[in-house]
Amino acid sequence: MAPTDEHVLAPWLPHMPQRLSLAKLPTPVERCTALDRGRARVWVKRDDLSSDIYGGGKVRKLEYVLANPPHNTDAPVLTLGGTGSHHLLAVALFLAESGRTLHALTFDQVMTPHVRTGLAVLASLGTQFWHSRTRVGLPLAWLRYQLFQRPARRGVYMPPGASDGLGGLGFVAAGRELAQQIADGELPHPGRIYVTGGSAGTSAGLAIGLALCGIATHIRIISAVETMGFNRLMFGRLLGQIYSCMRKHGFAGRGRVSGLLREAGVSWSIDHSQVGPGYAVPTEAGRQAITVAGEGGLSLETTYTGKCVAAMLNELEGDDVEGPVLFWNTHAGNDLSPRIVAGWQQRLPPVLARAVSTPD
Ligand SMILES: Cc1ncc(COP(=O)(O)O)c(C=O)c1O
Repeated sequence: MAPTDEHVLAPWLPHMPQRLSLAKLPTPVERCTALDRGRARVWVKRDDLSSDIYGGGKVRKLEYVLANPPHNTDAPVLTLGGTGSHHLLAVALFLAESGRTLHALTFDQVMTPHVRTGLAVLASLGTQFWHSRTRVGLPLAWLRYQLFQRPARRGVYMPPGASDGLGGLGFVAAGRELAQQIADGELPHPGRIYVTGGSAGTSAGLAIGLALCGIATHIRIISAVETMGFNRLMFGRLLGQIYSCMRKHGFAGRGRVSGLLREAGVSWSIDHSQVGPGYAVPTEAGRQAITVAGEGGLSLETTYTGKCVAAMLNELEGDDVEGPVLFWNTHAGNDLSPRIVAGWQQRLPPVLARAVSTPD
């Protein structure tokens, strides 16, 4: 993986950070009549097609995060997520491209077939697991990692979801990509954009990118995480981190990021109505939305995108929204089964090996 110097953000950032060319961009935008409700017409941003290795939204962030310090070395990476985390999968798969490995601090998720496949791939790629049953127990998992992992083999820490200033740049660029597609007539200017939220890098980056291009819209962020884990404060903090990262790379804009969004007419709101019993717990509404989206040719999952579409369908029916709406599909569509090696269960720590043998 060689850094590329061809940068979509170059017009705004005179001192560009390095970028790896990992994603197939631009991803297509398509009309999806199966998701139309009331008077709204729905388009889909197909980030599921963003890579032949592992698509979805994460690859956009990893293009910047893996290309720059402290991650642009041969060292392993340490990061965290649920046992079904797409972030862990994306990091492990792209690290594997250059023979690097992942230390994963994990916590239990409902063991759906999707989660089981993800774990099979992680184990097959040689991921080292440091597992805790709960999210609050993660510091103990980290302590075990510190105690038992030889310093020379420890990983460089990456924040959850690769959501920091640099990771967010991937979605600032995505905002510009969408603006270009609107200008080219590939879709009409959407009055609302639905996107799911976890660690906020996707939605915050998008808000800034669209504002810089003058695309006035409302970003409706459907949270997959309880209010404690994702809220206005966290979103605002990430907006600030991305903005200061841009400044560090020469961005000349004045004032605060909130002013930029306001002046451009970009507004946002966070909705927690679909979280249901908790993060990564499948809901009936989410499952139904996955079926509907499937009729429109989309393959979604129960933790993030299913819940996002459930909220969207519900609101479009109820609010009588008129005009074009965009659903940003952040879920990778790749078939990962060829990555799974025989005997992968034996590579898991005993607690996870037991969990995969007894699905919920
Ligand atoms: C499929 C999918 N969509 C969206 C998100 C959320 O993106 P962000 O963490 O940038 O809010 C995630 C997070 O892991 C995800 O797996």
